[in-house]
Amino acid sequence: MAKKDERRLVKIFDTTLRDGEQAPGNSMNIEEKLRIARQLEKLKVDVIEAGFPIASDGDFEAVKRIAQTVKSAEIAGLCRSSDKDIDRAWEALQYAGERGRIHTFIATSDIHMKYKLKMEPARVLEAAVNAVKRAASYTPNVEFSCEDAVRTRLPFLAEVVAAVIDAGATTVNIPDTVGYTIPFEYFNIIKYLKDNVANIDKAVISVHCHNDLGLSVANSIAAIQAGAGQVECTINGIGERAGNCSLEEFVMALRTRHDILPYRTNVVTEQITPSSRLLSTVTGIMVQPNKAIVGANAFAHESGIHQHGMLMDKSTYEIMTPESVGLKTSSLVLGKHSGRHAFKKRLDELGYELDDAGLNKAFDKFKTLADLKKEVFDEDLEAIMTEEMAPAEEKFKLDHITVTCGSFAVATATVQMEIEGKSARTAELGDGPVDATLKAIKKLTKCKAKLLTYNVGAITSGTDAQGEVTVKVAEGDRTVTGRGSSTDIIEASAKAYINALNRLDVMKERFDERNAL
Ligand code: KIV
Ligand code: ZN
Repeated sequence: MAKKDERRLVKIFDTTLRDGEQAPGNSMNIEEKLRIARQLEKLKVDVIEAGFPIASDGDFEAVKRIAQTVKSAEIAGLCRSSDKDIDRAWEALQYAGERGRIHTFIATSDIHMKYKLKMEPARVLEAAVNAVKRAASYTPNVEFSCEDAVRTRLPFLAEVVAAVIDAGATTVNIPDTVGYTIPFEYFNIIKYLKDNVANIDKAVISVHCHNDLGLSVANSIAAIQAGAGQVECTINGIGERAGNCSLEEFVMALRTRHDILPYRTNVVTEQITPSSRLLSTVTGIMVQPNKAIVGANAFAHESGIHQHGMLMDKSTYEIMTPESVGLKTSSLVLGKHSGRHAFKKRLDELGYELDDAGLNKAFDKFKTLADLKKEVFDEDLEAIMTEEMAPAEEKFKLDHITVTCGSFAVATATVQMEIEGKSARTAELGDGPVDATLKAIKKLTKCKAKLLTYNVGAITSGTDAQGEVTVKVAEGDRTVTGRGSSTDIIEASAKAYINALNRLDVMKERFDERNAL
């Protein structure tokens, strides 16, 4: 008979699409959010926080579509402790039925109450209780967060927690909003609540750690050791400022150290790498090479001594296998003779789901690329998918570029684009072909955005490799990242720049609405 798993289950609440998306450069459009949500479902997180419905019409629509689409995970929507926020959140979440979770919050620390809310503690307590009651009139699945809990006076924190549980909260979140705590202190805060809140067992204690001191994963582990039952985290650790607790690090810490951490999660760890890559593809932000679990070097053994040890026995230097996080050792996948079936299968493995029309388009691009390159790698497929995920109704499209350049010639770029369905063409001189091309695009699109960074790299090795360009552009306080790839790096540069301008255009409205909150 199989042995019963006695480890305590810790719920994983993924906030990549809410806290993660709030971070500069991580904005996603609705289609992109849906793709991530589908992947989170495959990863089997317990709760997907899909957004902040009242923040903008785009945020509302994304939460609603995710609530309509996702079939297994709970779907949470964030709202402040106000009636109109809560009503709007439920309007979007109702489509998830019993799986819809209203997540309402208010700050409880003296600093926040005095300077941000300008409210007395008694009024904050009242607002919290009223918010939870209103949320509970829609659904029993109510989460309440005491924003800046870690800097809240403990007796007041306990008072708020007890009151919101009485009012109907079934999850109470104790966030380290500013990433200030350390494991020992956080353990004691959770323990204090367990010991001093009479009704605490009627709710799940959740923790939500920011990474300002690089301690978010350690703090989350300490909290579950003290009795917390839910951890809020994000893929690749993205989130406000230094980010949130990284899902992959927390989950793999539990899995790897099950000898001393008697907790489990429902996460299918083999879906971690596809999830991380999909997010990078969508946002254009790659993780640093030495990032734990999902960085390019996380499973690379460079030094001779380490390589020797690995050849003798993998356990010498490997505490978890690449396979356990879904990293496939062979990345050579397809060539020009590969068929649709193999192409689709590989995309599925990488975490991309396409409808028939999308698959046809992507397959055509793959065939064109396979004619140019002998071998098509996973990274090439990810580059194809970056373009495939662009929304159909983009404002700016590239038609053609011709450049002339050389050691004697003044670089000249002639660019033809489609702008809101109309064709336009211009030529510009520049300090090199990339400069000339971007100047021509800037002139055609009349954009005021500033180019902050420009990076070019080869996706794979060999002179036939695709070049991949990543640019960061900013307009006012909005920053977006654009990516483009091609076997011609001038074309890749143009695509990346246009991709960024399109993203900026889509985000403009949402940023303005969010800022008006
Ligand atoms: O960091 C934080 O306190 C939050 C809350 C809204 C949960 O993101
Ligand atoms: Zn947060």
